[in-house]
Amino acid sequence: MLALAIESSCDDTAVALHGGDGPVGERRRSQAALHAPHGGVVPEIASRDHARTLLSLVDALLAETGTDPASLGLVAYTRGPGLVGALLTAASLAHGLAYGWGKPLLGVHHIEGHLVSAFLDAPGGLPAHVPFLALVVSGGHSLLVHVRDLGCYEILGATRDDAAGEAFDKVAQILGLGYPGGPAVSRLAESGRPGAVVLPRPLLRAPGYALSFSGLKTAVRRWLETRPEPDEQERADLALGFEEAVVDVLVAKTRRAWRSLRLGRVALVGGVSANRRLRAALERAAAADGLRFLVPPPALSTDNAAMIAALAYFRRGDALPPLAAPHPWARARWSLAELSAPSDGDLRVA
Ligand code: KG4
Ligand code: ZN
Repeated sequence: MLALAIESSCDDTAVALHGGDGPVGERRRSQAALHAPHGGVVPEIASRDHARTLLSLVDALLAETGTDPASLGLVAYTRGPGLVGALLTAASLAHGLAYGWGKPLLGVHHIEGHLVSAFLDAPGGLPAHVPFLALVVSGGHSLLVHVRDLGCYEILGATRDDAAGEAFDKVAQILGLGYPGGPAVSRLAESGRPGAVVLPRPLLRAPGYALSFSGLKTAVRRWLETRPEPDEQERADLALGFEEAVVDVLVAKTRRAWRSLRLGRVALVGGVSANRRLRAALERAAAADGLRFLVPPPALSTDNAAMIAALAYFRRGDALPPLAAPHPWARARWSLAELSAPSDGDLRVA
């Protein structure tokens, strides 16, 4: 069974095929260069560029993998959450292709795709490795999730304000590092001196699993007010101080959750899972407690369609004829928790 998936929730345009045993191929195009002059993602630019490039990526992927559309088992796309205009480009194309090719259609959840990303190389994929704890850290989300099964999620805690990736992006902006910010802050932090700048660890000692990152961004701004013209070393020290604070909080909260739930596996997913300091720190903490640590390769940490295609394969039983697919086609806001208990908006018309 071959699943074709289309991802366009933010600023990456991606299409991929999954063949059941594993990924078959992916084509991806980053829009980063288009958004960089604006310091962040401009939704209208994102939608227009997805609309312009998606079909050619599908054509190229089918050609390079020698795939006849007739052999596809289903067409899938990211239904949400994300930028609604951007989401609608993949939604429209997926509906059109599924209808034209006479294939079932499936709209899937972007964050559930990130959950699957840690298991792309693991035999059996995500369903073979439940239950586990997941730390999801991306540009739009920061959550700790108890994954009981595919489609059965308990959100233990989430950020009260900025997502971790958003905090990286805003600190990059404050430091004049441009967009995308996470990798740039992380690169600058590499030459920082450990302990030279110590920033607060928001909610570190508060009970529970809530996270908060907006105060940390303010702390970075305040520190710069005390040194209006920092030299390159001081900027690197500040970047490292910020990164260390984020990593400390994320590792402490995640460890608290696995100890309390007595879970034997922890997965780190979402764009910020590409961060080397975070990967290494969480891996060390997991090893110290005897947990198995799962993380996607850096190329599959950020948005991609390989994870969406793998998720579509696992959820293939939910695919429907395109005219019976649930409305709305795209959902800008969509909690992972809703997958466990479908809302009225998701009632099927089959
Ligand atoms: O998952 P993703 O590609 O898109 C969303 O679904 O949001 O995550 C993008 C986020 C951005 O905020 C980006 O700055 C952050 O992931 N990011 C990083 C790194 N690479 C990407 N943050 C810290 N360190 C990195 N190396
Ligand atoms: Zn994402």
